Amino acid sequence: MTDKTKVIAVFHSGYGHTKVQAEAVLAGANSIEGIDAELMEAAEAANNLDKLDEAAAIIFGSPTYMGTVSAQFKAFMDASSAKWMAQGWKDKIAGGFTNSSSPVGDKTGTLQTLSVFAAQHGMIWVGLDLPPGNNSTSGSDNNMNRMGASLGAMAQSLADQGPDMSPPNADQETAHYYGARIARAALRWAA
Ligand SMILES: Cc1cc2nc3c(=O)[nH]c(=O)nc-3n(C[C@H](O)[C@H](O)[C@H](O)COP(=O)(O)O)c2cc1C
Repeated sequence: MTDKTKVIAVFHSGYGHTKVQAEAVLAGANSIEGIDAELMEAAEAANNLDKLDEAAAIIFGSPTYMGTVSAQFKAFMDASSAKWMAQGWKDKIAGGFTNSSSPVGDKTGTLQTLSVFAAQHGMIWVGLDLPPGNNSTSGSDNNMNRMGASLGAMAQSLADQGPDMSPPNADQETAHYYGARIARAALRWAA
């Protein structure tokens, strides 16, 4: 038994890049006192939906494949319809993150899919409150939120770099910040 507030990040990663982002989200969430955060692979979560009932916040993460979530993540989404029927995750805090190889790469489509998914479950979506990090002459690719997202956390992993090199620190710091934000929101919402 723990009296800590549970945060679970459900993610899929085909080649390991989004997993790096998920681990940064996890570390950010666990950096907040009173939070017990963990990762769940989407396939595992699809087969263990009740585990997610314990969470005050669920963060959804998927690579952007063909402008939306991966098929593997979508399988989890479809499996969750059993919870949707009973609105079992209603009023939980929700957030989302995605990673792709192009700077834009149609990542917004993925975050929109995740936010609509959360809304269908009656969840409370929390966006990213960081200003754009690279939209002026004083900004650079080294700044947090260099992708300039608001709906959730974005990362870019260059197509010819492995997960040992990509996504870069700025995107991992963004994910860490976002995980902490979701954790704080969960604590406040659950109070
Ligand atoms: C099937 C497939 C579709 C993809 N579609 C996109 C896309 O729409 N936009 C983009 O920028 N990158 C796209 N990519 C590149 C991935 O998003 C990128 O390689 C990402 O880092 C993969 O994350 P992962 O290692 O967690 O699977 C695609 C890759 C695959 C395998």
